[in-house]
Amino acid sequence: MSEFAVELRDVVKIFPTPEGGEITAVNHINMQIKHGEFFSMLGPSGCGKTTTLRMIAGFEWPTSGEVRIDGHVIGRTPPYLRPVNTVFQSYALFQHMTVFQNVAFGLEMERIRKDEIKRRVGEVLEMVKLGGMEHRKPQQLSGGQQQRVALARALVKRPKVLLLDEPLGALDLKLRKEMQLELKTLQEQVGITFIYVTHDQEEALIMSDRIAVMNRGKALQIGTPVEIYERPTSQFVADFIGETNFLYGTVRFVEADKASVYVPVLDSEVIGLATAGLTVGQKAVISIRPEKIRISDKPILTKNCFSARVTLIAYIGSDTRVSVDINGQRINIWEQNKISSLDTNIYYRENQEVWITLFPENTLVLPEE
Ligand SMILES: Nc1ncnc2c1ncn2[C@@H]1O[C@H](COP(=O)(O)OP(=O)(O)O)[C@@H](O)[C@H]1O
Ligand SMILES: [Mg+2]
Repeated sequence: MSEFAVELRDVVKIFPTPEGGEITAVNHINMQIKHGEFFSMLGPSGCGKTTTLRMIAGFEWPTSGEVRIDGHVIGRTPPYLRPVNTVFQSYALFQHMTVFQNVAFGLEMERIRKDEIKRRVGEVLEMVKLGGMEHRKPQQLSGGQQQRVALARALVKRPKVLLLDEPLGALDLKLRKEMQLELKTLQEQVGITFIYVTHDQEEALIMSDRIAVMNRGKALQIGTPVEIYERPTSQFVADFIGETNFLYGTVRFVEADKASVYVPVLDSEVIGLATAGLTVGQKAVISIRPEKIRISDKPILTKNCFSARVTLIAYIGSDTRVSVDINGQRINIWEQNKISSLDTNIYYRENQEVWITLFPENTLVLPEE
């Protein structure tokens, strides 16, 4: 077994447009996906996720660069000869066939013995919790159940890698959340490498071992959910994953992993964690998440601590969302409601003068995009 289940080396895909031009859908992507990993490609619509997945599946070929599956350069091997299988958002089930027949279809094509087909289909239907539904037709199933049939149909062929292109996109929110956890559990059970495409950042965080955040055909950052959320290396990733506050300025000094940025709107320097490659004089952006900012009545640090006025309060049960203003700059803060109280004095009020603290270890300095 080679080191990686799937590897993309400097892959480019250029499509001709109907107007006679060209579009670079995938722009020099490198990815190394490990065996048994739940790996997600996350990014806005049109960033090249599906195209990348289709090149792994064999429905498209790279314009340049190479795809390796289990260490082998896969070249122009057709999809059905690759050890991969794809689950699409539109399940494309055969409507006139039963659940059993839908799932068995691929195995019958391979001329596998009848009793073995029966055993394998039974096993996989149990796995996706459709035991007892063998004789139903797709229109007698809910959307979630239909998606499970599509999943069973892909898994029954025992691919080494399962490719999933926004498979939960058609389901309503509640069902989608249930299926996210189920899919994750299923993946751990079967131990197959999953490559999962989604534009939903929460979904990617919940399910993935690692995530590739993509934009405009590039993989901007590849890392664990914690790395991607806590240490985004670009303004795009910081903005796309979760919520954050940005403060713009100019780098004043850089020393080891610390940087100081002069922020005009605060008329002050802010110290934070430096991203690799920052240089003095460079335009930079400070990124700090709303839950990591501290509000207090008095200043608690001599640096990175600013006087502000509360402009908006939203009590949402688990949190209170507080917006403050500093010289026209709005900053959003989420305060977890750790104390159960009806005393309104413990909550902040509009127009209250407060101090906010940006702890340097929670404050990231990123190059401005
Ligand atoms: N067959 C095709 N011909 C021309 N352009 C395409 C084709 N497939 C995808 N594209 C373009 O490539 C870009 C990436 O598309 P896609 O990979 O589908 O993005 P995503 O799945 O992230 O939404 C888009 O601009 C899309 O319009
Ligand atoms: Mg897509």
